[in-house]
Amino acid sequence: MALALFDDRDGFVWFDGKPGPTPIAITRTTEPKVRPVDDELRFGSAFTDHMFRMDYTEGRGWHDPRILPYQPFSLDPATSVLHYAQSVFDGLKAYRGQDGVIRFFRAATHAARLNRSCGYLCIPALDPELVLQSFHALVGVDQAWVPSKRGTSLYLRPAVIASEAFLGVHPAKSYTYFLILSPVGPYYAEGINPVKILATDTHVRAVQGGLGAAKTAANYAASIFAAEEAQKQGYTQVLWLDGVEHKYLDEVGTMNIMVKIGDEIVTPPLTGSILAGVTRDSILTLCRDWGMKASERRISIDEVMAAARNGTLSEMWGTGTAAVVSPVGELGYKGERVTINDGKTGPLTQKLYDAIIGIQYGETGDAHGWTTPLQALRAAGGESAARKG
Ligand code: COI
Repeated sequence: MALALFDDRDGFVWFDGKPGPTPIAITRTTEPKVRPVDDELRFGSAFTDHMFRMDYTEGRGWHDPRILPYQPFSLDPATSVLHYAQSVFDGLKAYRGQDGVIRFFRAATHAARLNRSCGYLCIPALDPELVLQSFHALVGVDQAWVPSKRGTSLYLRPAVIASEAFLGVHPAKSYTYFLILSPVGPYYAEGINPVKILATDTHVRAVQGGLGAAKTAANYAASIFAAEEAQKQGYTQVLWLDGVEHKYLDEVGTMNIMVKIGDEIVTPPLTGSILAGVTRDSILTLCRDWGMKASERRISIDEVMAAARNGTLSEMWGTGTAAVVSPVGELGYKGERVTINDGKTGPLTQKLYDAIIGIQYGETGDAHGWTTPLQALRAAGGESAARKG
């Protein structure tokens, strides 16, 4: 597997050297930034030198995929995304292994989920192949930004926003797809140490039939108030209960949730109110590979609290791209606080974290083919030169 060779300064590249559906134009920055050192990386505050952008116009479809120096958008104040939040995003990571290879984790699954999210928001579908090309092309251009310290990675944030300047509420006639990259460390200040979560029966994130399964800004906006309240009480995140009965576990602020009660691993099913987490799916798969009973079923907060009291709730953890596998050491509900595994990371949580991290960094076997190495990108030669002229 060859890494990208860029001899296409300010030109076009094709994905993997083969002419793809659309060439990607590259304009390189003339003012490269200073890269943060791996030891200082936090989540989502540093951004690389370049971004990817592509536009949609009614009648023309998606057009002009291009890589540009990282830069602000100029938006009309009437742009519909600013008023009605017609937007979706996703998040995935690229890891630099000790062998120097940069690997994406489940990139095609993320591209497919981005398109599913588009569907919920009446945003025109993207060509998943072109989305994958945007990942490879931009990470290829900014590959020096992929950190190498264990626990760090390059976070990719693809997003689509409605860009039409119009104050009526309707699906916009124009959109922008963009991709930005951020070298990141742990999502939580706690790192891999256990977080504290508060189950709320007063606030609701989403209901079945709503937007809960879409990765869209509105769900995160809906989470902010309750998260602030939880933080004032010393918790890291909110554990959302279902929006109808306020009884069954849904998900945690930025993660899916899993519990181990006795020999059973339980996580809420995908019934439309929670996000179909890619890490959630990976962890369920690993548990089943290991012969464990991993159930996707409704589980009430009363069942979890009772299991905590009678000692059968041995572990609880969240899963997410940003957080990976995050142990939960304390759970609060209706004024009661229970400690899980003495507030320490449980053995299964640690084993799952180690297993998934091992796959992501290319250190262990990848039985399910979840990782893809960064593809070689080459200039399109004569055809590219012709297009340049
Ligand atoms: C992710 O895990 O990728 C997320 O999208 C969480 C994010 C909102 C920080």
